[in-house]
Amino acid sequence: MSSDHVRANRAYWDRTAADWVEPGRRNWADEQPTWGIYGIPESEVGLLAWFEGGETVELGCGTAYVSAWLARRGGRPVGVDNSAAQLATAAGFQEEFGFRFPLVHGDAEQLPFNDESFDFAISEYGAAIWCDPYRWLPEAARVLRPGGRLVFMGNSMLLTLCVSDDYTRVGDRLQRPQFGMYRVDDQDDHSVEFHLSHGDLISVFRSCGLSVEDLVELRPQADAVESRFPFAELDWARQWPVEEAWIVRKAG
Ligand SMILES: C[S@@+](CC[C@H](N)C(=O)[O-])C[C@H]1O[C@@H](n2cnc3c(N)ncnc32)[C@H](O)[C@@H]1O
Repeated sequence: MSSDHVRANRAYWDRTAADWVEPGRRNWADEQPTWGIYGIPESEVGLLAWFEGGETVELGCGTAYVSAWLARRGGRPVGVDNSAAQLATAAGFQEEFGFRFPLVHGDAEQLPFNDESFDFAISEYGAAIWCDPYRWLPEAARVLRPGGRLVFMGNSMLLTLCVSDDYTRVGDRLQRPQFGMYRVDDQDDHSVEFHLSHGDLISVFRSCGLSVEDLVELRPQADAVESRFPFAELDWARQWPVEEAWIVRKAG
């Protein structure tokens, strides 16, 4: 049985999937991955440097371009997503670009896979922000093989503390307490995100046998142009991380 936020987010992503077709196509076409709202090249961010091939799962794959990048690098990806509409876009791109991998309609908080099925797990703004970290992180740890890595990326903790309530502006003042940060309900979109403090995240990692290998704070390049996402102006992003990526490893 899915939680209320999983049902709300499924409806939200089914409703908005059409907005992500063109960005998804650009990313599928890109041989050189870029990350985040400022399109920082993989050569600077280095998230795929942790990828050593093998069975891979993308948690909240959306249009599944990250899985496509992993397939091109010799991985055997499976994309999991809660939205049938997003997966339909991903399946269309598989036709268009001429290669396929399994796409599974499911909830990253209750994965339909056996324990220790994957060598690598990844989430770029998928489960990373749309799932309850107390549920999806133990699930990711469960399906990883000993020694397997999870890489996930989303909004930075600092951005979450400084952004306005309507997510349209970010200033140089804290807008809300850090203690207790967790679930964020968007009353207009009827969607739900989750953001934990670094300390709370590290506690969850420890509770499910994950240890931190790195925390990457993304910084726009010198020639970056203003993002189409209004909340994170370039001037802010040059001074503080708008986005961050954790790299964690399962013991073994
Ligand atoms: C920003 S999008 C996907 C990111 C992907 N990198 C892309 O841009 O296509 C977030 C995705 O997370 C998915 N998602 C939200 N909640 C989920 C859940 N409980 N389980 C699996 N996927 C979920 C949504 O359906 C949506 O496709």
